[in-house]
Amino acid sequence: MRMYDIILKKRRGGTLSAAEIDFFIQGYTRGDVPDYQAAALTMAIFFQGLEPEETADLTLAMARSGDRADLSSLPGVKVDKHSTGGVGDKTTLVLGPLVAAAGVPVAKMSGRGLGHTGGTIDKLEAIPGFRVSMDNRSFLEQVRRINLAVVAQTGHLAPADKKLYALRDVTATVDSIPLIAASVMSKKIAAGADAIVLDVKVGSGAFMKKLEDAFNLARTMVDIGNQVGRKTVALVTNMDQPLGYAVGNALEVREAIATLKGQGPEDLRELCLQLGSEMLVLAGMAEDPPAARTRLEQIIDSGAALNKFKEFVAAQGGNPEVADREELLPAAAVLYPVQAKLDGYIAEIQAEQIGLAAMALGAGRATKEDVIDLAVGIVLKKKIGDKISAGETLADLHAQKDMDLTAVEQMIQQAFTINGAPPAQGNILLGKVS
Ligand code: URA
Repeated sequence: MRMYDIILKKRRGGTLSAAEIDFFIQGYTRGDVPDYQAAALTMAIFFQGLEPEETADLTLAMARSGDRADLSSLPGVKVDKHSTGGVGDKTTLVLGPLVAAAGVPVAKMSGRGLGHTGGTIDKLEAIPGFRVSMDNRSFLEQVRRINLAVVAQTGHLAPADKKLYALRDVTATVDSIPLIAASVMSKKIAAGADAIVLDVKVGSGAFMKKLEDAFNLARTMVDIGNQVGRKTVALVTNMDQPLGYAVGNALEVREAIATLKGQGPEDLRELCLQLGSEMLVLAGMAEDPPAARTRLEQIIDSGAALNKFKEFVAAQGGNPEVADREELLPAAAVLYPVQAKLDGYIAEIQAEQIGLAAMALGAGRATKEDVIDLAVGIVLKKKIGDKISAGETLADLHAQKDMDLTAVEQMIQQAFTINGAPPAQGNILLGKVS
């Protein structure tokens, strides 16, 4: 078999066999297939697409390219959740304890962030003492004991995807639906869950800007999951403004804790209840989403979700007192309010701009080597539909001392659109694909 023939076949719109896809992926992982041939093939895929079976074969080949977690020794249906990413997305911090308290075993590998703010792992590291790595035996033992463990994903999980994603990033081939779907699902499959709930975000702060593309991506990923024997459900959700109010690592941990206490922002609570309900149903713990939701609401109201969070933090070496004493989390030295210049209603908040502003404060990484400042970020004071008067605060910047905040303030001003009339309010949940 030759890479040249595989590239030519796809360039002409042919359908690749499982053996051809495997030849490419295993060869590329080993370093036998050079970057220029991999780039040519991904560009051919970008234009010609992949049939559902090719997408599933690509996913499995990438999942097989490295370590695979074996969760079979854990009792129950292991359900994973994945979000395609958005600004202020701290759902894992809420959902993990919430569904674990309902009896669903959650053995989760998460990533660090590259971009606006940190990933789940960076956010957890804002909790003093919290350890994000542990050996496999301890990981499984912790899930068996308390139903929940979250560790940093290693480079040995789906290494083909790691290499290919980095190549796509610099060859303008990231935004191909079959390639994104195979990339996401290969990691989920390698991470070992029996069932997967996907949160596909759409809007100004998401990868997918158009509803049609988001549904397409959701359909493609659900089909892959079902084709490879993992029950998969996707919710398509709104990312036209940041999720919740907080953007920035420790600030997001605070908001997640408030949500576990039943005092968090409505959109974050609603999203967690919707995703959590799907997780409970897939785990066989509830008859249907409404029954699951009632159960999850009780778990929040009774304090069981917060207690599970404390148990989880303590199990991974963190200080569980952060749940009751916010001051134990890192805090920025400066609080700088950005004020509205007009009266009216918040019509739009460019989520990506807010994310970039948080990154400019130091909350995110531009390159893998950057060090994140866990304390800094942005807390919105207004969301879409809120009334505002000139001089009122749009958002607070949490910054370090001696930083010139002029440019960040301008970014925040530009992110908000204020109109005379109240806008139509959208739902967080836009649809479900199963
Ligand atoms: N997220 C991924 O994990 N992979 C992609 O290709 C795009 C987004």
